[in-house]
Amino acid sequence: MLEVTLEAIAISGSPRKNGNTELLSRHALNAIEEEGINTELISLSGIEIKPCNACYACKEKETCPIDDALWPVYTRMKKADAIILASPVYFGSASAQIKGLMERAGYVAHFNGRLFEGKVGGPLVVARRAGKNFTMAQLTFWFQIMGCIVPGSTYWNVAFGSHEKGNVRQDEEGMRTAWNFGKNIAFLLKKLRA
Ligand SMILES: Cc1cc2nc3c(=O)[nH]c(=O)nc-3n(C[C@H](O)[C@H](O)[C@H](O)COP(=O)(O)O)c2cc1C
Repeated sequence: MLEVTLEAIAISGSPRKNGNTELLSRHALNAIEEEGINTELISLSGIEIKPCNACYACKEKETCPIDDALWPVYTRMKKADAIILASPVYFGSASAQIKGLMERAGYVAHFNGRLFEGKVGGPLVVARRAGKNFTMAQLTFWFQIMGCIVPGSTYWNVAFGSHEKGNVRQDEEGMRTAWNFGKNIAFLLKKLRA
């Protein structure tokens, strides 16, 4: 049997440290880790990832001339076998932080050999009330155009979290959905990389 070290990362697109998005992401990663897969939570809180400026430098080579924190995050995405993108809902939509990452990491990977093709992944979304399904669709579109393989869960990957940090824990079904999503990522990853 081939012994491979598998890695799953979750990227939290909330500007708030230790908030609901990070908590839900960590929960999904714990489910993955239980299956013997290495995990890492990357928070975009406190780091700057600007939006794409459409210079198309990434069409010529694997680079992005915007000088900010994109590259270390992009490098981790490239290395990972599975990627979760997690976002709070901001005005009915994904956060600006995760959107900037999707635009730039997405184009660099796309123009340089479709580098995210075949990775396992999917979204996680937290909101106080409205905009969850729309945001989940936004994130899912990204995974699909990147050629990633997106497993399901026992519900859509959305959870309620109010303005209070940690409040998402009270959404028992939302937490369970994230957990089961993590389990399905691990299951799929093991089948694909066996
Ligand atoms: C600028 C801003 C806009 C928001 N817009 C929405 C929204 O459209 N719908 C919603 O249900 N919650 C909205 N929220 C609430 C967050 O989605 C919610 O508090 C979430 O749990 C925050 O996750 P975090 O703790 O990881 O930051 C908004 C919060 C902020 C700061």
